[in-house]
Amino acid sequence: MGRLGNILFQLAALLSCAKRLNVTVCIPANELNSSYFRLLRTSNIKVTNLKTFHEGMYAKYDSNIEHLNTSMNWTLSGYFQSWKYFYKDEDLIRRSFEFSPNIQEPAAQFVESFRLKNITIIGVHVRRGDMTTDNLQKLGYATAPPSYLNKSMNYFREKYSNIHFIIASDNISWCEENIKRDNDTEFSKFNDPWVDMAIMSACDHVIITSGTFGWWGAWLAGGDVVYFKGYPRPGSVIDKGMSREDYYPSQWIGME
Ligand SMILES: *[C@@H]1O[C@H](CO)[C@@H](O)[C@H](O)[C@H]1NC(C)=O
Ligand SMILES: *[C@@H]1O[C@H](CO)[C@@H](O)[C@H](O)[C@H]1NC(C)=O
Ligand SMILES: *[C@@H]1O[C@H](CO)[C@@H](O)[C@H](O)[C@H]1NC(C)=O
Ligand SMILES: *[C@@H]1O[C@H](CO)[C@@H](O)[C@H](O)[C@H]1NC(C)=O
Ligand SMILES: *[C@@H]1O[C@H](CO)[C@@H](O)[C@H](O)[C@H]1NC(C)=O
Ligand SMILES: *[C@@H]1O[C@H](CO)[C@@H](O)[C@H](O)[C@H]1NC(C)=O
Ligand SMILES: *[C@@H]1O[C@H](CO)[C@@H](O)[C@H](O)[C@H]1NC(C)=O
Ligand SMILES: *[C@@H]1O[C@H](CO)[C@@H](O)[C@H](O)[C@H]1NC(C)=O
Repeated sequence: MGRLGNILFQLAALLSCAKRLNVTVCIPANELNSSYFRLLRTSNIKVTNLKTFHEGMYAKYDSNIEHLNTSMNWTLSGYFQSWKYFYKDEDLIRRSFEFSPNIQEPAAQFVESFRLKNITIIGVHVRRGDMTTDNLQKLGYATAPPSYLNKSMNYFREKYSNIHFIIASDNISWCEENIKRDNDTEFSKFNDPWVDMAIMSACDHVIITSGTFGWWGAWLAGGDVVYFKGYPRPGSVIDKGMSREDYYPSQWIGME
């Protein structure tokens, strides 16, 4: 269900659960184009004795997953938007989420081209697109204002001395209008979510705004993370249906 960010959450929960049970993972070919990954593969095994585990809430860890056992085969159904589903298997997830060379190589080349002077690279993901629509805003999907981007970028300017920002977004023209283009700022123009995800993951530290795409860019980069506290909008429908502690890792820094 969903696009790249959502898919990675579902795969992470699946891989970690299967590892705990020591069972084979079966990713149906119609649910994933595995050509984007270096190692992850789909399969069309015909599974018998199959039951579905439905998560309780989309971004609240459901500990019932720990009670699944191997007396039958299981389908996992849901969004699984929590680090708690896979935090014990970080290495497995990182290895599984290596992108195929045709994605990884241009992304790494782009990022490394700014690393000439021993520079610390900060990836910034700015989600706009559908999140700016009234329907989603009503539910609590919020977009970060320019003042948040300025503040979080200043945080890294103060923390590290030689830095460079790479801005990735589903609306680069909004970013060009709203983020002051200093000599330390570059925009990703690949216009390809997979390459942008690989770019974020190759950065040292990451700033995110809203949505699961930025979440995964931040997690894969593995450095300092600043996230936008206004997502989801506090008190909104989606905020009430989730657990912030389960969604945002505790070491990530929230700003508004
Ligand atoms: C996992 O399953 C394999 C066979 O499928 C078995 O050889 C191995 O011992 C199992 N590992 C554990 C830790 O149970
Ligand atoms: C999977 O992605 C590759 C690379 O973008 C593309 O060439 C291929 O047609 C896709 N396969 C399917 C089944 O969509
Ligand atoms: C395995 O799970 C099934 C279904 O939830 C349950 O009925 C059964 O008691 C469990 N078996 C063990 C050994 O825990
Ligand atoms: C799961 O499905 C496979 C493939 O059909 C089958 O061999 C296996 O016995 C099933 N596992 C259980 C616990 O029923
Ligand atoms: C690069 O920066 C690191 C950490 O700030 C420092 O330890 C290292 O000596 C620097 N390397 C060069 C070539 O300047
Ligand atoms: C960005 O932040 C700096 C430092 O707080 C401030 O001086 C500047 O006016 C801000 N710029 C914008 C466009 O908000
Ligand atoms: C991108 O942002 C610009 C400027 O804010 C806006 O006019 C445009 O409609 C947006 N484009 C898309 C595809 O959302
Ligand atoms: C960017 O500009 C500032 C002054 O505006 C200068 O001090 C700094 O050296 C420049 N950085 C690079 C990488 O050119």
